[in-house]
Amino acid sequence: MFAVSLREDAELRPLDVWHAEEFAEHMDRARDHIRPWVGAAFVTKDVDAARNLLRRYADRRAADEGGLFGIWLGGRLVGGVLFVSFNADWGNFEVGCWLEPSAEGRGLITAGCETLLEWSFRVRGMHRAEWKCRADNERSAAVAKRLGMTLEGESRECWPYEGRRYNKQEWAVLAPDWRSENG
Ligand SMILES: CC(C)(COP(=O)(O)OP(=O)(O)OC[C@H]1O[C@@H](n2cnc3c(N)ncnc32)[C@H](O)[C@@H]1OP(=O)(O)O)[C@@H](O)C(=O)NCCC(=O)NCCS
Repeated sequence: MFAVSLREDAELRPLDVWHAEEFAEHMDRARDHIRPWVGAAFVTKDVDAARNLLRRYADRRAADEGGLFGIWLGGRLVGGVLFVSFNADWGNFEVGCWLEPSAEGRGLITAGCETLLEWSFRVRGMHRAEWKCRADNERSAAVAKRLGMTLEGESRECWPYEGRRYNKQEWAVLAPDWRSENG
């Protein structure tokens, strides 16, 4: 319905229930790449599961508690950014992201997250943006760093995956720091 232009031939748009088939096709290209690093519930297996996921996020956006936004590169859905949580009462929100492998390395996620942070801090008056990732997820931590976030700590062995438990990092940036870095 509406789109924000990112870099190159790329657009950020709301990802809605009517995108279920497109999302399912994209997930076929992304599944193996993202599964180690995101929650199992996000990695949908077919169109019905995709529709359910998109509906859950649509409901959360309607409740002002989350939201899902796709990134289209050359007209193809290649990944996206999301409000994992959004608590307007407390002024805190968490941002997440994913990409299919062919779209990595172009700055699309950094640009998409900048759009979410800019809107949250300046339009919504939010105070704290959080970012959580597996401690060995170097590409994800690099995005947090590029967004000007600070590594605040690590929760030990809280992330189970395929018989092992991994540490989780928590990064954050506060509104005054964002504004002073971004004019
Ligand atoms: C995490 C993930 C989304 C990061 O993707 P990414 O492509 O590295 O991140 P960006 O889109 O911001 O691109 C940054 C890369 O583009 C490059 N780049 C090119 N132009 C750029 C620009 N204008 N601005 C910023 N970076 C740019 C950067 O140098 C960087 O490449 P490098 O890491 O080789 O140096 C991706 O690796 C992924 O999907 N991983 C699996 C799922 C996952 O981990 N999700 C996060 C869970 S916490």
